[in-house]
Amino acid sequence: MQKIIILDFGSQTTQLIGRRVRELDTFCEILPYNKFPQDDPDVIGVILSGSPFSVYDPEAFKIDLAAIRGRYPILGICYGAQFMSHTLGGRVEPAPSREYGRQHLDTIDLHNPLFQGFEPGSQVWMSHGDTITSLPAGFHCIASTATVQNAAYQAEGEQLWGVQFHPEVFHTTQGTLLLRNFVVGICGSTQGWSPASFVDTTVHELQQQLGDDKVILGLSGGVDSSVAAMLISRAIGNRLTCIFVDHGMLRKNEFRDVLHDYECLGLNVIGVDASERFYADLAGVTDPEQKRKIIGRDFIEVFNAEARKVEGARWLAQGTIYPDRIESLNITGKVIKSHHNVGGLPKDMQLQLCEPLKWLFKDEVRRVGRQLGMPEHLISRHPFPGPGLAVRILGDITPERIRILQEADDIYIRALRQYVCDDGETLYNKVWQAGAILLATVRSVGVMGDERTYEHPVALRAVTSTDAMTADWAHLPYDFLANVSNDIINHVRGVNRVCYDISSKPPATIEWE
Ligand code: XMP
Repeated sequence: MQKIIILDFGSQTTQLIGRRVRELDTFCEILPYNKFPQDDPDVIGVILSGSPFSVYDPEAFKIDLAAIRGRYPILGICYGAQFMSHTLGGRVEPAPSREYGRQHLDTIDLHNPLFQGFEPGSQVWMSHGDTITSLPAGFHCIASTATVQNAAYQAEGEQLWGVQFHPEVFHTTQGTLLLRNFVVGICGSTQGWSPASFVDTTVHELQQQLGDDKVILGLSGGVDSSVAAMLISRAIGNRLTCIFVDHGMLRKNEFRDVLHDYECLGLNVIGVDASERFYADLAGVTDPEQKRKIIGRDFIEVFNAEARKVEGARWLAQGTIYPDRIESLNITGKVIKSHHNVGGLPKDMQLQLCEPLKWLFKDEVRRVGRQLGMPEHLISRHPFPGPGLAVRILGDITPERIRILQEADDIYIRALRQYVCDDGETLYNKVWQAGAILLATVRSVGVMGDERTYEHPVALRAVTSTDAMTADWAHLPYDFLANVSNDIINHVRGVNRVCYDISSKPPATIEWE
């Protein structure tokens, strides 16, 4: 299958480039800058990403351009453009002031294949400290802004382009067109990558790969594991056994409702209520990382005990998606939270791993889910952390505190689903993720009727995001917040105050623990 290779020089927007290429129904792979796949006959073009480094930084990432130049069409974005220009004899210098934000392409070579269909004055988004002050011999400038002379260039007679702006970001209004011109017009993509073709090929591949074997899969209620289960079930039917563990920290009624959904979808699913065990092991534990470790360990043990009952199982399937696997260049190398919960299955079971979604981005997983006929409420569910409400209760966890949080969260989430905005979309669908947090280590005074109360606050969190790497707090309407606050305080015993979290990520994270 045709593919575009995106070489990652460490930019925050590299994944976004990948997403945009996929939106053009073209397969692409994001690889570390120094891992170009030699001799892959499917490669039709290469994109070099931006980078936090300047070409002059001693630790700046460099590649041997000779390995790709002349063999594939190349598009350098920001650092990618500066790196090629610098390496091939041009001059890159610190810009007099950092070139950041919206600018307009005042001059554009509209005959250049990269700018087919562009409008004069088209808005672009810049974000760089260096700028290309002179181009290598044989390169010519094909677009400029008021302050950036060489905003885009092409090497004479070569399939090699550089743009100093970011076509992948929303603020570059014709950015998708530019990428289409490159991917489809220049590289010749036939745009054969679609949810329907993905389902057909994957079901076929799964049948080949799995033969008559039995497969087990852990369902979490989330989109990824559910879509993976549907795909595998379409390929091998009831030879797939799904295990859905209730650790007791799911949302209100979630275990019951989602289990019912799974059964209606025809999945062969075993529901295991293990909440008592988790509560017992978590009693008195307040440290967030300790909570995660206990939940991770218990989860594996419960899951394994069920998995062992599936006689002759040969495969473990997982809903791993592409962003979980991209070997991105983590420049700082620091771990903020220990996330993902999958780990150690018993060696004696000798299970092989089956990950049918490992090439997909989240929005593609949703498109595949729709293609498979899954109900919208399952597909559009917000992400939910593996350790569940445990990381949304500050302090130790008790069944009573979980009950309080489940009630408050349920009022909040139902209200988000019911609130329809002017454009016809619900607030729930407009935000990336939302949830309530019980500040069980805090108490404040209130008054109800004639009674003094001394109870816990609940914080509400809602964020907008595209990938959870960065997030902004959602600007929910005041009337909505007022109603939810009233409903929670009036109906949830144990809560006498509601706050709204107005922190972005970074510096805050999405979950409080
Ligand atoms: P943070 O809190 O790091 O979260 O901004 C980013 C995204 O990851 C989810 N999250 C988790 N998911 N296990 C998971 O499977 C975890 O321990 C975990 N912690 C956070 C979080 O809900 C958000 O979508």
